[in-house]
Amino acid sequence: MAELTELVSVLKAAGEGTRVRLLALLADGDHSVKDLTEILGQSQPRVSRHLKLLADAGLVRRNAEGAWAYYGLMQQGDGAELAQWLIARLDDSDTDRRCDIARQSAVRAQQQAQASEYFATVASSWDLLKTLQVPEEAVEAAVLAALGGRKVDTLIDLGTGTGRMLELLAGSYTRGIGLDSSREMLAVARARLVSSGIGHAQVRLGDIGDLDVSMGPAEVIVIHQVLHYFDDPGRMLAQARRLLAPGGDMLIVDFAPHELEFLRSEHAHRRLGLSRAQMSNWAEAAGLTVQAVAEFPSENSERGLTVCLWRLSDKIKTEQN
Ligand SMILES: C[S@@+](CC[C@H](N)C(=O)[O-])C[C@H]1O[C@@H](n2cnc3c(N)ncnc32)[C@H](O)[C@@H]1O
Repeated sequence: MAELTELVSVLKAAGEGTRVRLLALLADGDHSVKDLTEILGQSQPRVSRHLKLLADAGLVRRNAEGAWAYYGLMQQGDGAELAQWLIARLDDSDTDRRCDIARQSAVRAQQQAQASEYFATVASSWDLLKTLQVPEEAVEAAVLAALGGRKVDTLIDLGTGTGRMLELLAGSYTRGIGLDSSREMLAVARARLVSSGIGHAQVRLGDIGDLDVSMGPAEVIVIHQVLHYFDDPGRMLAQARRLLAPGGDMLIVDFAPHELEFLRSEHAHRRLGLSRAQMSNWAEAAGLTVQAVAEFPSENSERGLTVCLWRLSDKIKTEQN
């Protein structure tokens, strides 16, 4: 139960055209203020003011990351319920809404194109870049150990890049599929699979944001150093979940929260790492449970990046345990 004044302030915050549009946009995934400004075609101070009112009333949550801030819908509480109620009643054929949806997908497509352009230029030197940033050996050993020596029928590596995960885990699957949106990365991955004599894995061109479900189901899905390229990793996780076999496992490797803004400006990162709390929320929303988290501090003290490995399981499996 909430006090009258609290309820009125939530209603007031939600009771305005632009703010309802913002709620509907955020229902489709987290966005930065910059994106929302572009989608709505309104000034940044104005959009920020609306967002602040929504955040103060508990309708949306704000997550500051370096020079950017991301907003998403609250997932629990009166504000979350009211937001869901409103969004469920909003007609997507409404003129403003149609325009917002079109701009939202244009903004996402543009971001995807920027990332693809970046990966096209770094494809041949990608492994070198990785070694500069992360304690690779320890992470790879932990990824292998997370599978506990078992062999699954199908393993899908989303954002496979140069195919390193398919190579590392080659003994753990009968059929391996690597998906990536960069032709250049896939060319490197194909060469790697051939030179390692791995004939039971193949790589395909595709977008994690628009997955072909017939590729699955997979007992294991790997998403290694990919989620920070998306504004809304939770949305991608929910997409990936659609490929997971009942009781399957997802292995996610990504950076812990950091403040290295240059990774955004020079290396196409969108999120400055992912926190444990964020991952738990995204997993929960996707019907997954966090089974284990391990952290690997950087070997490179200058850059200071910590890598996290999460093992997420399909809820069916958790309930059976
Ligand atoms: C940092 S690399 C990681 C590659 C590989 N998982 C690894 O760790 O070696 C990120 C990869 O994600 C891919 N990627 C980015 N956005 C994608 C999308 N929407 N769909 C599929 N792949 C994507 C990039 O092309 C790139 O190869």
